[in-house]
Amino acid sequence: MPLTRRDALRAAAAGLAAAPTLFAVARAEDKKAPEFSLPKLPYAADALEPSIDALTMETHHGKHHLAYVTNLNNALKTDAPEFVGKPLEELLANLKKLPEKAQAAVRNNGGGHWNHTFFWDIMTPAAKSGAPSGDLLKAIEASFKSVDDFKKSFSEAAVKRFGSGWAWLVKTPDGKLAINSTPNQDNPLMDTSGTPLLGVDVWEHAYYLKYKNLRAKYVEEWWKVVNWDGVAARFASKK
Ligand SMILES: [Fe+2]
Repeated sequence: MPLTRRDALRAAAAGLAAAPTLFAVARAEDKKAPEFSLPKLPYAADALEPSIDALTMETHHGKHHLAYVTNLNNALKTDAPEFVGKPLEELLANLKKLPEKAQAAVRNNGGGHWNHTFFWDIMTPAAKSGAPSGDLLKAIEASFKSVDDFKKSFSEAAVKRFGSGWAWLVKTPDGKLAINSTPNQDNPLMDTSGTPLLGVDVWEHAYYLKYKNLRAKYVEEWWKVVNWDGVAARFASKK
């Protein structure tokens, strides 16, 4: 019997390794190749349906994310070869130290690579989503009064981000929680405002196929596939 498209997606996902390391961003499997590479999704492309449809996931991951990786590698090779092989987090936190002609490309495409790798990892099928608990729950209640109030404020930051960008929950350097949002592919690593714990992509490419112009509806549905264990692990990390 021929495989259906869904079977094929499941088969592709069956061979996936565990989710990407919390803070590491994948490089080529060949350790001698210092290039960045597209990480595999930690679940099947249709695993987040109906919140996020398979076609959006395939396009978002296989086309948009791949383009960031390719453009990042090219920018480094062409305009900043002395920075090839450096960790992505280090590049993003020190953009001004790069040659000027490489800064915009690394900011946009390096940010795009980091943000999307993070994004795939901070989502999970709805059945595994869970809820904030333990120390994370206490911190959310201390900073935002309740989980519902936190979700409301975070959703507002996501929906009100003008144009393309991201909304973030970060752990600030003094250990507190804060919500912020960034334009384009910027992220909190670039201004060292905190360690990202959760982030939502509000570029139209993340939702337009299914939700058209209804960004608020996308964000509402996105909450159902948040990987709360992943958020808690990042919160508990010393980083
Ligand atoms: Fe995206």
